Amino acid sequence: MPLLSLRAVSVSYDDVSALRSTDLDIEAGEIRAVLGENGAGKSTLMNAIYGMVAAKGEFLWDGRRVAIDNPAEARNLGIGMVHQEFALVEALTVTENLALAVEDGTFVDYDRVRQTARRRADELGLDIGDVDLEVGELPVGSRQRIEILKALLTEVRLLILDEPTAVLTPSEIEQLFAVLRPLRDSGVAILLITHKLGEVMALADSVTVLRRGAVVAERSIADTSQDELARLMVGDMPPSQEVERPPARGTMMLELTAVSLRDKPGRARLDEISLEVAAGEIFGIAGVDGNGQQEVYEILTGHTAATAGTWRLAGDIVHGASVEAVSNHGVAVIPPERRRDGAVLDMAVWENAILDGQILALHTSKKGLDQNRAQTFAAELVDRYRIVCSSTEATADSLSGGNLQKLIVGRAMARRPKLLVAFNPTRGLDLGAARDVHQAIRGVTQWGGAVLLISTDLDEVLALSDRVGVLYRGQLTDGGSRPFARTDVGLLMGGIRPARDTPAPTLGTAGDG
Ligand SMILES: Nc1ncnc2c1ncn2[C@@H]1O[C@H](COP(=O)(O)OP(=O)(O)OP(=O)(O)O)[C@@H](O)[C@H]1O
Ligand SMILES: [Mg+2]
Repeated sequence: MPLLSLRAVSVSYDDVSALRSTDLDIEAGEIRAVLGENGAGKSTLMNAIYGMVAAKGEFLWDGRRVAIDNPAEARNLGIGMVHQEFALVEALTVTENLALAVEDGTFVDYDRVRQTARRRADELGLDIGDVDLEVGELPVGSRQRIEILKALLTEVRLLILDEPTAVLTPSEIEQLFAVLRPLRDSGVAILLITHKLGEVMALADSVTVLRRGAVVAERSIADTSQDELARLMVGDMPPSQEVERPPARGTMMLELTAVSLRDKPGRARLDEISLEVAAGEIFGIAGVDGNGQQEVYEILTGHTAATAGTWRLAGDIVHGASVEAVSNHGVAVIPPERRRDGAVLDMAVWENAILDGQILALHTSKKGLDQNRAQTFAAELVDRYRIVCSSTEATADSLSGGNLQKLIVGRAMARRPKLLVAFNPTRGLDLGAARDVHQAIRGVTQWGGAVLLISTDLDEVLALSDRVGVLYRGQLTDGGSRPFARTDVGLLMGGIRPARDTPAPTLGTAGDG
């Protein structure tokens, strides 16, 4: 008998039908992958099981009909969930966050929580680091591990993971799988959302494919292939149109010279980073999450001032840090946490489309904001980037993760930036949406813009970049230029210098030194 069965489960938001009469079974000791394009209804399905959205239909747990009206009821049944978007409180420490999940009295025994956390993390083989750090200081990869630990602190019979690997590096993904396999073998049922077909084949026992709110296929892994799953997921995709790449033009758009960032105790978070990106060029920063990516991003977006070194945008020295000044210098940003930094969730799609000083200026005259023009502009973005939404009046909150990301990317492109800083731009996007975003990023080079791409997805860095640098413990080393030596980049990511005679690494534009 399945542990959990869904019968004719439907969910609608206002008048949008997000899930239509869905059946799903999962057994104890089974890992079932749930695949589907952005907006297919994957998160909605998981949220329905976890009692976070109201659903019609039947839920059977151990064959008995149950109502799961809220997350507390889900947890009582033995359901744990790791959400697609982080649900941790940034101003609290890891221990405090975990306490929120397990303790319910007014007196919280933090020592006990700390001990339980360490013991559970050891059992599961999760590296959670210092549990007394504030979550806001942790890189995304660590936050993800804390989320997983939070879901598993108490015994669960069904674990739901909504795109857990989107932010992880290949070795972290292997570590996660090494946690999930023994859980499955001990009889835990696991529902796993992912866009990565390789992961489905490597880990899952079975797979359910959703398209536009309905189950279109179910397979056991033994009876399917990556090709078949890709076809089922996306239907028939039009062939991609590669953007012609003009050669790099030489004007230096971004120059970092010995830029360092020290934290209060004096540790070097960034250690004398130097790099140059010319007009028409895409420079990729590869590396395992937590090695300084966040710091580079914060300096380049004006959120943090470097403690040493200089940096120039199109020749001008940028002093100190100001988000506005950087933006006025022609820098557009694709932030890593779209819901927190990329959008105002309770504002309409059209309002979010102009939520950028430079774009706003284009739609504003002495008479104020020209709403009609702003609406037209938003409608064009929706059309051009194939953003699925009920209308431009819908709130940003109602967009699926991938569709919200396309809105943010479209907005960044509309400025025709001199420099685009993109941090994990396709995290959690399906194949079609990721391809659209990559095409947009390549497009920046067409008008002579430059791109600094920071991504923990090595495939993405190697696919897009002309030259690559690798961040490891705050230091940037040269990862070469096209064609890339993938293994060498992989070694540098692990802090190992490839064993061949290379001259001292320089990161100037190829051919200028
Ligand atoms: N709170 C909401 N209000 C209105 N519509 C919503 C809401 N949440 C989701 N939707 C809509 O429901 C549909 C399914 O969204 P859902 O988030 O389940 O997709 P998903 O498969 O998880 O996509 P992604 O891969 O992008 O995360 C989408 O059309 C989305 O716009
Ligand atoms: Mg989702």
